[in-house]
Amino acid sequence: MAKELKREVSLLIYKESELDTTTLDLINRARSAAQNARAPYSDFQVGAALMLSDGSIVLGNNQENAAYPAGLCAERVAFFAAKANKPEASVLKVAIAAVRMDANENNIPAPCGSCRQVMSEYENDQASPIEVYLTGGSGDIMKSNSIENLLPFKFSSDQLGD
Ligand code: THU
Repeated sequence: MAKELKREVSLLIYKESELDTTTLDLINRARSAAQNARAPYSDFQVGAALMLSDGSIVLGNNQENAAYPAGLCAERVAFFAAKANKPEASVLKVAIAAVRMDANENNIPAPCGSCRQVMSEYENDQASPIEVYLTGGSGDIMKSNSIENLLPFKFSSDQLGD
């Protein structure tokens, strides 16, 4: 009889009116950042806004390239910028807005697996959870209490051993 190893994931679904102003501001910063995305190939603009422990906000958006795999998602642009410039600051929250979407529980603007992996490693480093807010240009906001919640059975440096 196989033993089951189970991980539960959950998202909280909010209306804008249910969020505090700091979080709503961060979401709106992510939506505005999406306006500067370079997405001529997909026409799918995404913005990301990080709130750091020193109170600063770091923005990112997707940057596409004619050599498609050379492009990068909004989340990684924002996280790499934050870690390049403020390596000592931890990330408290990230808001991600895929503005072409009208988000709801059946249409969740979820980050790709590579971005989950990258965010997960930074979350491990700082040993405190990063709150994630997922939304579109309009609609509901899906909250995850951590990156780990978005990436159960994650790969991490633990597996690399010595
Ligand atoms: N994209 C992001 O920037 N973040 C996501 O979470 C999903 C996808 C970008 C990558 C590409 O430029 C475009 O959206 C379409 O996949």
